[in-house]
Amino acid sequence: MPATIVVGTQWGDEGKGKFTDLVAKEMNLVVRYQGGHNAGHTLVVDGEKFALQLVPSGVLYDHITPVIGNGVVVDPRVLLAEMDMLESKGVDTSRLRVSGNAHLIFPYHQELDALHERHLGKNKLGTTKRGIGPAYADRAMRVGIRAQDLLDEKIFKAKLEVALDHANQILTRVYNRLPVDFDEICDIYLGTCKPRIEPLITDAIDLVHTSLESGGHVLFEGAQATFLDLDHGTYPFVTSSNPTAGGALTGAGVGPKHIDRIIGVAKAYVTRVGSGPFPTELFDEVGDHLVDVGKEFGTNTGRRRRPGWCDAVMLRYAVRVNSLTEIALTKLDIFDALDSMKVCVAYEHEGKRVEQLPYHQSVLHNCTPIYEELPGWNSDISGITERHDLPKEASDYISFLEQQVGVPINLVGVGPGRSQFLHFTNDG
Ligand code: GDP
Ligand code: IMO
Ligand code: MG
Repeated sequence: MPATIVVGTQWGDEGKGKFTDLVAKEMNLVVRYQGGHNAGHTLVVDGEKFALQLVPSGVLYDHITPVIGNGVVVDPRVLLAEMDMLESKGVDTSRLRVSGNAHLIFPYHQELDALHERHLGKNKLGTTKRGIGPAYADRAMRVGIRAQDLLDEKIFKAKLEVALDHANQILTRVYNRLPVDFDEICDIYLGTCKPRIEPLITDAIDLVHTSLESGGHVLFEGAQATFLDLDHGTYPFVTSSNPTAGGALTGAGVGPKHIDRIIGVAKAYVTRVGSGPFPTELFDEVGDHLVDVGKEFGTNTGRRRRPGWCDAVMLRYAVRVNSLTEIALTKLDIFDALDSMKVCVAYEHEGKRVEQLPYHQSVLHNCTPIYEELPGWNSDISGITERHDLPKEASDYISFLEQQVGVPINLVGVGPGRSQFLHFTNDG
């Protein structure tokens, strides 16, 4: 298995962190390929919880080199704080590497993110206000500043002058705010951050390809998810990068021939944070139950996640746009106390049955889910590690999803802990 991609199949928070950590055991490198500290990936190891935003989930293994790829947008202040947090918990972060081509997030990106959301008013996207969109916009406008620019003060300052001049024009003239101070940014980025970040900055392309060429195993860790993808998600209610499997190729600098396993992580139900369409959204006590039992509050933002039933139409689309080879299903244990669960198998729109995700937003916004109801198991499955010990109803739920979606479900999560999972199919 030279290279594996782990990608979210819904609207994020599926449990990618836990499954990346699990699959990472066999890997040499774990590369984060897009997003920034809008992500919150939770790992629970020996009862201790780690909430990661930027550092790849492989960091907890001594044999792994965690790499922040060129596709990621990095706030160096957040990265250093996260490294300090990990070190304080006894995790060695000295192997961490950052691609010199990764773009940096600056305070003006965060301010512009928040101002833009305010400007949108009731049409706001519900972003994490971490400056993700504005940082990627600067990259596309070619006024972004990359990690490698920290290595040359002259270049850094010259680029900052251009970027800041533009950002300050918008801040002062459009939003009537105070300009961001050039020297203050230089003090933080060159003064405080550079000495600690400099040793981490590397040629990540060489790192990844040297590993692949010498028979090493590389895992590409996605943040966000398929339906938050800038191209393939529920635009405009998406993030500003490409979490789908194609994003792993551009966000880490590899071609498709290296990839032989693409694992889509799917929650047994669905959650979404922020605005946007959500056909199977629940507004009743069952939804509240999923939020309460599933602890569906943002890892870093603390926001309540919107709950809904599992949507096989979405998963079929995720299989297609990512070329998934398999699915890792998480949080099956959250159904333990339910008498029955629903799965959306198709949509109905203007009297017609729709099996595949409608490409037109108006159809998605106005369709109603067609559900099949499956019986619950009313028992605690959180300690089960073998398929044959699962209640029949739980096993049937997984088989039903497999049949709906068309790829095997190889791994099933039954709790947040590292060992709380089971291999469902024999080849998993
Ligand atoms: P990510 O962003 O996809 O990495 O997911 P998050 O970490 O934001 O949210 C997933 C949450 O579910 C975290 O609190 C995980 O510890 C937890 N989790 C992951 N898998 C399971 C599972 O199978 N069962 C339960 N109960 N919790 C899980
Ligand atoms: P992980 O990796 C869930 C959502 C935000 C908002 C939209 C755009 O933990 O699954 P942004 O700040 O990216 O411009 O916000 O995307 N969003 C996430 N939702 N999980 C995430 O990451 C998310 N990262 C961004 O809530 O709706
Ligand atoms: Mg998350």
